[in-house]
Amino acid sequence: MDADVTVLGLGPMGSALAGAFVDAGYRTSVWNRTPGKADALVRKGAIEAASAGEALRASPLAVVSLSAYEAVQEVLGPLAGELAGRTLVNLTSGPPPHAREMDAWAGRAGAAYLDGVVMTTPSGIGDRRFLQLYAGLPEAFEGHRETLAAVGDPVYLGADTALSSVYDTMLLCQMWSTLTGWLHSVVLAGADGPGGSVTATRYTEVANRWMDTVCFFMSTYASQVDAGRYPSNEFPLDLHRATMDILVHASELRGADTGMPKLFRALTEQAIAAGHGGDSYARLVEFVRRKPAPGAELH
Ligand SMILES: NC(=O)c1ccc[n+]([C@@H]2O[C@H](COP(=O)([O-])OP(=O)(O)OC[C@H]3O[C@@H](n4cnc5c(N)ncnc54)[C@H](OP(=O)(O)O)[C@@H]3O)[C@@H](O)[C@H]2O)c1
Repeated sequence: MDADVTVLGLGPMGSALAGAFVDAGYRTSVWNRTPGKADALVRKGAIEAASAGEALRASPLAVVSLSAYEAVQEVLGPLAGELAGRTLVNLTSGPPPHAREMDAWAGRAGAAYLDGVVMTTPSGIGDRRFLQLYAGLPEAFEGHRETLAAVGDPVYLGADTALSSVYDTMLLCQMWSTLTGWLHSVVLAGADGPGGSVTATRYTEVANRWMDTVCFFMSTYASQVDAGRYPSNEFPLDLHRATMDILVHASELRGADTGMPKLFRALTEQAIAAGHGGDSYARLVEFVRRKPAPGAELH
């Protein structure tokens, strides 16, 4: 083997991954279905393989970044006989069941399998401030942690390979709700148009500091959710409810969409009506949580 790592797929993400491995000093074998996409990487020092099989054979560690799991099966299916003793890290996005199917398939082929999710855009690859998620065989992760750190801070979630895409969905939910809440606040500040009295930039300097407090609340409430008990010493739902009225009123005055603040208020009112006005905000988890549709499971 003449390389440390192989990258299969040189779309925007695969190219960024391969570039980060090269930059970190790893001998990197690359392959892409359509020729011509490896040229810039080869100029940096990557080794272009003539086929996916040649790329796979070049190193003990193969990182796969293709458009979908179907493409991964198409590329790797005929190469099952070449996988024994290698580690396969699949960074292709897909639903949780596909990760488990790929895990079982790789296991039958004698490969160690890690399913990962890239939690940034290609320009963030190689930056240790951004985390990347991995799930699968713990010894495979530990064995390649250092190499994987070349593309971002590697976070190991557990042995079940479905975990990386489950976390992906949860983290994106948190990202969208946080960003939409922030945008709503920017609109309230009047910063959404020219001449706004508070610019988005100025507001965000304070908002970013406030996120430390929000993180503190989340850590406190996480143990309450796990325990199913929601004591509130200082900030009960009754007090949240009164403050939410101010938010809804301010949104109406500003001509902002009131859907989101009214959602907060409706959940809080349901909890208060059920007798939980003295509890912490974490009690709302019981009102966000509905009975799952028959047969529907996250995993
Ligand atoms: N871009 C992002 O910001 C981002 C962020 C997080 C995660 N991801 C994930 O990273 C993966 C790669 O994304 P991407 O942005 O690089 O672009 P992409 O368009 O999703 O993937 C392009 C790559 O897939 C290859 N491909 C597609 N079908 C194939 C097939 N049947 N056989 C062989 N190769 C095939 C393409 O080869 P050809 O060049 O021959 O067409 C190309 O190398 C995706 O799963 C994506 O969801 C991307």
